[in-house]
Amino acid sequence: MQAKKNQKVVVLATGGTIAGTSANGSDHTGYTAAQLDVPQLLDAIPALNDALQGDALVCEQVVQLDSKDMDHATWQTLAQRCAHWLSQPDVGGLVITHGTDTLEETAWFLQMVLGPTKPVVLTCAMRPATALMPDGPQNLCDALAVARNPMVHGVLVVCAGRIHGASDVQKVHPYRLDAFSSGDAGPRGWVEQGGLRWADPGSWPLRHTNAQQALERPVAQWPWVAVLHNHTNPDARQVHALVAAGVQGIVLAGTGNGTVHHRLLAALTQAQDQGVAVRLTTRCAEGQIVGQPLALPTAQRGLNAFKARVSLMLDLMG
Ligand code: SIN
Repeated sequence: MQAKKNQKVVVLATGGTIAGTSANGSDHTGYTAAQLDVPQLLDAIPALNDALQGDALVCEQVVQLDSKDMDHATWQTLAQRCAHWLSQPDVGGLVITHGTDTLEETAWFLQMVLGPTKPVVLTCAMRPATALMPDGPQNLCDALAVARNPMVHGVLVVCAGRIHGASDVQKVHPYRLDAFSSGDAGPRGWVEQGGLRWADPGSWPLRHTNAQQALERPVAQWPWVAVLHNHTNPDARQVHALVAAGVQGIVLAGTGNGTVHHRLLAALTQAQDQGVAVRLTTRCAEGQIVGQPLALPTAQRGLNAFKARVSLMLDLMG
C-alpha cells in the first residue's frame, strides 16, 4: 500500500542523542544530548522532499532533554500535543524524536494513553548529529516513511531499519547502532529503501481504559508505583520502607521464571495484604513468565518491569 499523498506529517522533538553534538566528529560517547532543534534535524536529511512525496511537514519542539531525565509532566505534555495533532483530520501521522535511554517507556505510555488509530512513530539515534556518520537522519527518514503509511496505526519505534511494537521493544545495547530488540516477538517489520515490509500486520495493542485520566489528572496525583528487583540477598526493608512512605504499587522484576527470595516474597505478600498492588515480571531480557509460579499476579503481556510500572500506574488511576 502506497502512502497517502498531500497529508500532513508532524514531527515532535524531545531531544536525545539524535539532537546531540560533540566537538569531535569521531566521538560517539563524549557528546551532549539535546542540542539541535527540530528544523536542524530535518535540514540534515538531504532527500527529505523525495521522502515526503508531496506531503506537508509540520514540526514542533515539545521539550529539549536527555531522556534519562524524562518525567511524568513531560509525558503528559507530549501526550497532549500528540492528541492535539492526531485529532486534526489532515494529519496522517506523527514522528517523535526521542533519546534512546527511556524511549521504550515513553512508547508504551503513549500507546496506553492515546491508543492511536493513526501512526505515532518514535525514533532516535545512537550517534550524535555531529558524528562523521550519524545514524539519526536515516532513522528519521525511515520513521517518516512509516508515519506516512495509511495502513499503519498505533505507537511504533523505528531504529536501524527495524520497526518495533511499543509493547515489545527494549533497548538492549548501550553502544551499537542497532540497540533495540523486540526479544522473542521480533520486529513488527522493516523499512527498506523507504518501503515497509511487515512481519505480521495483524496484532496491535489497545488504548488503556484509564487513558483519559493520564491526559487530565495533575501528575502530582498520579499513583506512585515503584520498581524493585530480586537479586542475591535482597533486603525486605526496602518493601517496608516503601509501604510506610505510602507507595500504591510495586513491580518486582523477579529472577528467571519470576522467582523471588523468600524474605522479599514475605514482605511483598504482606504489602499486598495491606492494599499495595503488586505485579511480578522477570529480569530476563527475553521471554516472559510462564504459568503463575507465585501468589503474586504476573504483569500482563510479558511487559518488562518498567513498562509494567506504566501499566500498573494507569490501572491504579481508575
Ligand atoms: C538520551 O536518552 O536522551 C541520550 C541517549 C540516547 O539518545 O542515545
